[in-house]
Amino acid sequence: MPGIVIVGAQWGDEGKGKVTDLLAERASGIVRFQGGNNAGHTIVRDGEQFKFHLIPSGILYPDKACVIGNGVVLDPRVLLEEIDGLKRRGIDVANLRISANAHLIMPYHVLLDTAGEMKLGKLSIGTTRRGIGPCYADKALRLGIRVQDLLDEKILRKKILAALEPKQQALRELSVRRRKLRKEAGEERGGPAGDAPDPRLDLHTMTEEHLAYGHRLEPHIADTSRLCWEMLDAGETVLFEGAQATLLDLDHGTYPFVTSSNPIAGAACVGAGIGPTDIDEVWGVAKAYATRVGAGPFPTELSDETGRHMLERGHEFGTTTGRERRCGWMDLVALRYAVRLNRMSALTVTKLDVLSGIDPLRVAVRYRSREGAVFESFPYHQSILHSAEPEYEELPGFDVDLSTCRSESDLPPQARAYLKFIADFAGVPIRLVGVGPGRDQVVWIGEEPRLQAA
Ligand code: IMP
Repeated sequence: MPGIVIVGAQWGDEGKGKVTDLLAERASGIVRFQGGNNAGHTIVRDGEQFKFHLIPSGILYPDKACVIGNGVVLDPRVLLEEIDGLKRRGIDVANLRISANAHLIMPYHVLLDTAGEMKLGKLSIGTTRRGIGPCYADKALRLGIRVQDLLDEKILRKKILAALEPKQQALRELSVRRRKLRKEAGEERGGPAGDAPDPRLDLHTMTEEHLAYGHRLEPHIADTSRLCWEMLDAGETVLFEGAQATLLDLDHGTYPFVTSSNPIAGAACVGAGIGPTDIDEVWGVAKAYATRVGAGPFPTELSDETGRHMLERGHEFGTTTGRERRCGWMDLVALRYAVRLNRMSALTVTKLDVLSGIDPLRVAVRYRSREGAVFESFPYHQSILHSAEPEYEELPGFDVDLSTCRSESDLPPQARAYLKFIADFAGVPIRLVGVGPGRDQVVWIGEEPRLQAA
């Protein structure tokens, strides 16, 4: 059978793309099941770097089914840009399949995302401003526009009109606020159209534009659940590639500082249209330290030289927004929570090489609240989490270049002890360790998985 879900164990950017890429070699299909182009997956192939926001990381294999599942929210303009970019680099995208039921991020979703953030001011979430939240909100309100709607002009026009109607007030407010900001900045006309309504929101323009997108995407639109069933029923391996991560989960993450979908393993069922018993393994991916972009609690955050070391050595800048990522120590309280929520069967620890030169290393093993209460498990109460002080275990560091290590025995004993401490504490075996950005810069712990491709 194997259905394997790959999930982020922290706040995202753990290097899921690389793990997916490695496992994909032995799989028949790679499926994205949630999120949208707020994600950013970087893969290095033969020294060439590929960045994806929407297309599953498996696209570099021309013989694999590469699926955008129904749970994804898809900005067709961004998707077509990615397709064109890949084609220009000689990558065949014929095997890309897009669920007819996936929801579309429309231009007004992007504007409303920005409007929401501007309104929140200092309390903003720090979203990627890609329209993710407003799109999922419309999905729940049943005002969403789906990929299949791109193929029917009448339906598309009607649905855009219905979706726009309740947003007029918010969009007007946004345009007034923007005008004010432009005036304050001394830009009288401010934009190409001055005070004219935003042309991106014109019903006719939007409909025509999206019909054209539909025309181009049509060969890729499919019943992707059925496609997954066929591969799974044939005993082939299918990878379900999560975007974002456990602590950004809408239900289980650090709400409201989360994304608007469920990046945990259970969501693969809903977002791809498979059953829970189709999942055989769950691979979690954690960085050897921790990072977070955007606002929200981050108990082990460092604002010192060590944090700077992680930022610089780890090139911790967002793939999607270019923002500096906040950096900190590995948080084992949070990791153990993620292991249980996803019921991980294996863990991958990435970027271990970045920790070289830091001595001692620290890992958070419990939190203490302001009142002195001790938390061995991840606290559900947001006020506690916001003020929680982590308590650390100190472990000896290492000061060797790990980038050429290819087997467990190549790793210095301190690095092995660090990994063992993480695995024992989190209660999950570490199967793969990343020691550099390259595809080959990994150490398999134990046997490499034997998976079944078509
Ligand atoms: P949104 O998903 O754009 O609505 O942003 C909500 C929160 O999730 C913000 O803190 C973002 O920085 C964060 N976020 C969204 N996508 C990613 C990702 O792929 N990696 C890391 N953080 C992300």
